[in-house]
Amino acid sequence: MERYEKSFLSASAAVLVIFLCALGYSTVAMGVHLPSRSGMIYCGAGEKLRGVLRKTPPFDHPGVQEIAPGKYEAVVVAKTWAFTPKEIDVPVGAEVSFVATSADVTHGFFIPGTRVNMMLIPGLISKLNYRFTKPGEYLLICHEYCGELHHTMSAKVVVK
Ligand code: CUA
Repeated sequence: MERYEKSFLSASAAVLVIFLCALGYSTVAMGVHLPSRSGMIYCGAGEKLRGVLRKTPPFDHPGVQEIAPGKYEAVVVAKTWAFTPKEIDVPVGAEVSFVATSADVTHGFFIPGTRVNMMLIPGLISKLNYRFTKPGEYLLICHEYCGELHHTMSAKVVVK
């Protein structure tokens, strides 16, 4: 076997072994997995999904609540073309856990100036934690085209 051929073959083999180790490490040590059905409420859309959402906690009562000292949970339901609730009030410095879903089509969940950026897929739960360190009014917008009045779809987060 040619000398170069041999070295390229061993380099390729080394890369494969490295990737295999990285895959093993991310799965076992870091817990990176494919999405499971654990965040699924209902598979499908339409009136049936809306009915299921109305009966499924926490989406049967959208809104903000303090779940521990300094920790808040904001449950949001997106529906063409509004978010429920329209306003999320939290104190400054609080850790807010957003738990959101869509009742009809795919919507966006984006607060400009923060790293809050999710996609809301009908029947699936999207979660993200964020700490608001500066007081003010933050706009929550839908940044996923969802139809005629997509550009009007917004809510606000008020941090006092
Ligand atoms: Cu909802 Cu765009």
